[in-house]
Amino acid sequence: MKARKGLTVLLTALFLLFIGIGLYGCAQKPSPSKPAKKTTPKVAVPAAPSTATAPVPKAAKKAGSKNLEAAAMKIINAQGCLGCHIINGKGGSIGPNLSKEGIKGHSIHWLEVQINTPKVHYPNTIMPNHNLNQAQLKTVAEYLESLK
Ligand code: HEC
Repeated sequence: MKARKGLTVLLTALFLLFIGIGLYGCAQKPSPSKPAKKTTPKVAVPAAPSTATAPVPKAAKKAGSKNLEAAAMKIINAQGCLGCHIINGKGGSIGPNLSKEGIKGHSIHWLEVQINTPKVHYPNTIMPNHNLNQAQLKTVAEYLESLK
């Protein structure tokens, strides 16, 4: 009987000790988290510009090729190239199909010469000379070179 009483006293003492430790732990916890809070606000700032700049070149590239196509097709339509050439599925077949002109490996310069003075490359050609200015030549030549 005596040993049992001693055991209950011991267990009660341990129980109280655990409660004491638990309460002490609860009381201690909030204080270490206070100084940690002060360092947080700076982190989020530099992330924003890096994610914002990433999509821009892609979008600009897409818009650029669309603009090139629109500008080139305006000139091509006005010059009547489609009377003899198929470009993007439309046009005549007197001249070669230019829908994949880019895979032939001609330089931009070669294409510019071809457009204004085709007899330099094909002395007996029926393709007429055109009279595009340098900016128009560049636009059409770059567009044809991009067709692959
Ligand atoms: C009267 C018809 C005709 C017109 C109009 C014409 N072409 Fe041509 N083009 C030809 C023919 C035919 C050839 C093939 C060369 C040859 O053997 O005579 C050719 C060749 C070309 C080539 C070279 C293809 C290659 O890789 O060998 C390009 C590029 C070209 N034309 C672009 C144009 C552009 C751009 C226009 C409008 C500014 C145009 N052509 C207007 C008839 C024409």
